Order: sequence, then C-alpha cells, then structure tokens
Amino acid sequence: MKHGLKRLLFSIGGRALTVIPQKVPVLFSGQGAVRKIPEELATLKAGKPLIITDVGVEKAGILAQLTEILKSASIPYAVFPGITPDPTFEVCEKALEALRANSCDSVIALGGGSVMDAGKLVRMGATHKKPLARFAGLLKCRNRGLPFICVPTTAGTGSEATAAAVITDSMKHRKITVLDPRLPPDSTILDPALTVGLPPALTAATGIDALTHAVEAYCNTLHYRDVDVQALEATRLIFANLPRAYTDGSDLEARENMLKASHIAGRAFTRGFVGYVHAVAHRFGEKYHVPHGLANAIALPCFLDFYVDVCPERLADLADMVPREDTRREDTRREAKSAAVVSEAAAVPEAPRAMELPKQEFNPRTMNKAERRAWFQKKARVFCDAVKALEAEIGIPEKGDFIRAEDIASIAEGAIKEAHGTPYPVPAVLDADDLETLIRKMMK
Ligand SMILES: NC(=O)c1ccc[n+]([C@@H]2O[C@H](COP(=O)([O-])OP(=O)(O)OC[C@H]3O[C@@H](n4cnc5c(N)ncnc54)[C@H](O)[C@@H]3O)[C@@H](O)[C@H]2O)c1
Ligand SMILES: [Fe+2]
Repeated sequence: MKHGLKRLLFSIGGRALTVIPQKVPVLFSGQGAVRKIPEELATLKAGKPLIITDVGVEKAGILAQLTEILKSASIPYAVFPGITPDPTFEVCEKALEALRANSCDSVIALGGGSVMDAGKLVRMGATHKKPLARFAGLLKCRNRGLPFICVPTTAGTGSEATAAAVITDSMKHRKITVLDPRLPPDSTILDPALTVGLPPALTAATGIDALTHAVEAYCNTLHYRDVDVQALEATRLIFANLPRAYTDGSDLEARENMLKASHIAGRAFTRGFVGYVHAVAHRFGEKYHVPHGLANAIALPCFLDFYVDVCPERLADLADMVPREDTRREDTRREAKSAAVVSEAAAVPEAPRAMELPKQEFNPRTMNKAERRAWFQKKARVFCDAVKALEAEIGIPEKGDFIRAEDIASIAEGAIKEAHGTPYPVPAVLDADDLETLIRKMMK
C-alpha cells in the first residue's frame, strides 16, 4: 500500500477511536489538594478505599501523608504497596485480591504511571468477571468500574487523565496497552507538594515523557483544536519549568507547573495519540527495563531530526513555545541578582539554551513554496536543537548505551506492530528498515 494511503487510513483509524467521548476526571489542584480526598470519597459514595502504591512512594513519606488524612476523617482504608515499575498483570491481580480480601469499595492510586495504570485495571477488574489480562487491547470495559481517584506523584505520564493503561505481559515480555474511554479516573488530585521528593534523574526522565506526549500528539495528523492547544501549552510549561524542578526539587511553583503540563499533555495524547517514539520506547522498557521517560528521551531527538522534513510547520509551532534567548537571559539575570545577595561575585550565567529563530521575516506573499518550506524547516531545526539542549541541561545522556545491536530488528518490528496496530495517526508511515536506521542513531 502507498505511504499516503496508509497515512490516511491511520488518521481515519485514530479519529474513529476518538468518536466515543472519554471521561474527563474532576480536577483538584494546588498545594494541599490531597486534603480534598475525604470529601471526594463521600461525593463518589466510597466507604473504604484500597490505596494502591509502591515502595518508593511509601519510603518518600507520601503514603503516610494520605493515611493521616484518612485517619483524621475516620475513613477506613487498606493499602497495597506492592506495585512494581512497568507493572505486570500478575501484580495487578495481587492488588485486586487485596481489594477483595479487605472488602474495599473504591481505589486510590497514589504514585507514578505504574501505580495509576495498575489502579485502572484493579478498579475495572473488581466489577468485571474476567482475568485482568483479558482487558488487553481496545474497548474491553463493559461498565464504569469502582469509584477511582488518581493522585500522581511524578509529573510525566499524565495517566491520571488518559484512557490508557500500559501493562507488562510477563509471559510474552511485552508492554501491552489497554485502551478504553472508561479508563480515566473519576477524580484527579494534582498536589505539587507530593512531588518535591522526586529525585532529579526521575524528575528529568518523567518530564521528558510529558514533553514527548505533547510533541507526538501535536505532530500526529488528527489536528484537533483542543489537542493542539493543550500540546502547545504543555510544551511551553515544560521548557519553562523542567530545568527549575530538576535543579531545585523544592521549587513548588515549578513542580505545580510540571504537574499541570504533564496533565494537559496527557489530555492531549489521550485524543491525539502518541507515535513511533513511544512505540520504540515501550520496546526499550520491556527489553532493558529502562525508565519509561528515559526511553522516550533517548528516542525523541532522533525522530525529531527525521520529522524536520516530514512536518516542519508543526515543529515550527512548537519552536514558538521555547523561551527565547533574551527572556531566558532576563530570567537568569534575575536569578543571578538574588544569588548575588549571597555571593557578591555572582556572574550572570550564559543562557544554556540559545533560541535563535530564523532572521528572515516570514512572508507568505513574497515567498514561493520552496522558500516557505525552507523557512519552516529552519525553525523546526531550532526546536530539535532546543529539545537536545533541554535534555543535556537536565542530565539526560545523548545516546542509549543499553541498546544492543542484535535487538534492533525485533525492536523495530515490535514498534511497527504497536504503531500500526492501534493505529497511531503518525505524521509519516515508516517501515521496519526506516525504524532500524533511526534506532541505530540512538546507540552509543
Ligand atoms: N497510562 C498512560 O497513559 C501512560 C502514559 C505514559 C506512560 N505510562 C506508563 O507509566 C509507567 C511509568 O510511570 P512513571 O514514569 O511515572 O514512573 P513509575 O510510576 O514507574 O515510578 C518510578 C519510580 O519513582 C518513584 N516515585 C514516584 N513518585 C515519587 C516521589 N514523589 N518521590 C520519590 N519517588 C517517587 C516510584 O517509587 C518508582 O520507583 C510506565 O509503565 C509507562 O509505560 C502510562
Ligand atoms: Fe509516555
């Protein structure tokens, strides 16, 4: 089949998947928003929630914050702290057993994407009579599931907004997507105070996951207006706040903006979809167990370089969301000024990401088609460079030293299966050879 026809079919397929309206969770945001949970449980007529979480979240003291709130409100609860990164169906089944054993009637997912995705399955499993593995694929939910509240503690996946759950099939060593418009939670709590303890490397990786959601949704072919607005705003927020959250984890304003960015990027891709970057990143996750955000961070720049010739106009729009050199200089001067109170010798640091837009004015009347395209490509390259500079600034390695040459063919094959099987409305349809070439560029 010709490339153009496939692209059209994938676009129609993606559009068809968004015909059924998705649930939009009720949102509570801001420092202290987690204290809204007792009231929200009452609204949802939930008497005894199962808190699903993982050991990292428990060790960070976040679980204790929530249980204190429930205790003070005299709300009974049970805890399942055993979710593992990239959770398997087996782990989700164990959480479901805990829900039944403790006679819980609702679910609170407190954690990152792994915990929220597991929560989505448990909440559905409790009201369906089938093994959780049978939810794999499209539209497998027949009812709304138990009342469900998501409390993200990472700012990355946006799972608290999406109609997707990514679960690992341990038999096939594959990451499987469960897609259903009923999957988003009833309520979402975005409390930046819960993310201040997230270590810098995880802050960086999860932040780039959110950026990848925004970029892929924006470059895809559906071009829904709401998706475009959300993707652009998420990109703007991430460039402005991720370096701040990485450098100073206790910067509550940056943390709040990152949670907002990750949430709206989630809203964007739940209707606009992701693309090949995620399809490849999921293979990195299942083969090498690298964090999902880092897997995306390694793949994203290579695809962006390729997309300069595919959708330069879309990348050019994204370039407009990157802070300009002059505004960044202003910011760093202001920061340096306050630093100077501590150290008289504080020098104005160089702006780490120089955004230099094409000097030539864009004038569609005087420019011919080739000149217009060249102008957009130049601006698109500015965006690619800005993403690379952002990743370098937050300590993300340029290449994936985990990628093994002997795996490239199967990674490409698996990525094609995911991207074309869903289908994702990708801006260009690639074949396995194209993907292999791109994956080789991601290797050290
Ligand atoms: N459903 C979706 O729409 C969607 C979208 C993108 C990714 N995902 C999936 O989400 C998973 C990745 O989620 P993630 O990137 O949020 O990571 P994660 O949930 O796997 O958590 C990573 C680590 O961070 C720790 N952690 C989380 N919050 C913390 C905090 N505040 N302080 C200290 N430590 C903390 C956890 O304990 C864990 O060890 C992957 O399985 C990915 O495929 C799902
Ligand atoms: Fe993701």
